[in-house]
Amino acid sequence: MSFKVQPAAPARPNRCQLFGPGSRPELFAKMAASAADVINLDLEDSVSPADKPAARANIVRAISEIDWGTKTLSVRINGLDSPFWYRDVVDLLEQAGERLDLIMIPKAGCAGDIYAVDALVSSVEAAMGKKKKLMFEALIETAAGLAHVEEIAAASPRMTALSLGAADYAASMGMQTTGIGGTQDEYYMLAGGAAPRAVSHPDPWHYPVVAIVAACRTHGLLPVDGPFGDFSDEEGFRAQARRSATLGCVGKWAIHPKQVALANEVFTPSEAKVAEAREILAAMAAAEQSGQGAAVYKGRLVDLASIRQAQVIVKQAELIAG
Ligand code: COA
Ligand code: MG
Repeated sequence: MSFKVQPAAPARPNRCQLFGPGSRPELFAKMAASAADVINLDLEDSVSPADKPAARANIVRAISEIDWGTKTLSVRINGLDSPFWYRDVVDLLEQAGERLDLIMIPKAGCAGDIYAVDALVSSVEAAMGKKKKLMFEALIETAAGLAHVEEIAAASPRMTALSLGAADYAASMGMQTTGIGGTQDEYYMLAGGAAPRAVSHPDPWHYPVVAIVAACRTHGLLPVDGPFGDFSDEEGFRAQARRSATLGCVGKWAIHPKQVALANEVFTPSEAKVAEAREILAAMAAAEQSGQGAAVYKGRLVDLASIRQAQVIVKQAELIAG
């Protein structure tokens, strides 16, 4: 272990973040009644410029009027390149009461972006005498965001999570894609040898997901996989979500209520996985009793690192159960 111990991420479930446009207030109560751990009311790209003021007013009202239960409540503000974001922040802090937990900063490109929002939030919070500190999550969805992902993660003590925004990321990178996330037909490998050669589809989102997970784990944030646009493709969603769960993400967005149960299913460690992790912990406890640092579990080596791996699964299951 480095002298600098890896900080723990916030201890709250974040298996699914359900999004809804701020301009469709009729969806808000349905969102509150859903099984998502986090609700994201959107002021950014699902709201047209002409609708921004009305969407802001809808959200301000809904934050205090709707019973959000124990969910984490977040509002995605507009980007720092827009004329809308400062008004989003000021109205939310001056008018929306204290139920709001997070704001999501889209298209974060450098630590300075987070610093700018932090300065404005800190000033309005102080002026309002707020007791509750508004926390941040940010979207990595540009070339600059990916290049500076670690400084973004470290930019403010308000930072709690990073998500990958696949569509804007693809556009910013100049990728030749149209869908939001998932398999890309033209991104494929051909097996060697004679025809017919097997085709496989590697994951074009692998690198940004891993970069986000590393930055988040280094600085004690929650890494989250973002949207999957084709909400009719349940197996496609599962496959993408399983890959990002395997790589360390704690959850994924839902852009349609259909996707909430899928995300909860994938990001809740299965009973079989938890049982195996507990067996490994028991095998290692027995090994330690007899003075061994390594043991054999089902024909394979387990050692002190296996304890840390198993604890990830057991702790995640306990967090969700609790
Ligand atoms: N949250 C909660 N409920 C939702 C919902 C959402 N985001 N989207 C749709 N629903 C509800 C509908 O009101 C409908 O409810 P009903 O059965 O009581 O009538 C039901 O789920 C089925 O909706 P459906 O007709 O399939 O969807 P739609 O055509 O109304 O809307 C989308 C589809 C994709 C436009 C809509 O889901 C949406 O706006 N999603 C979020 C987009 C967003 O926020 N993007 C920004 C982040 S990428
Ligand atoms: Mg985006």
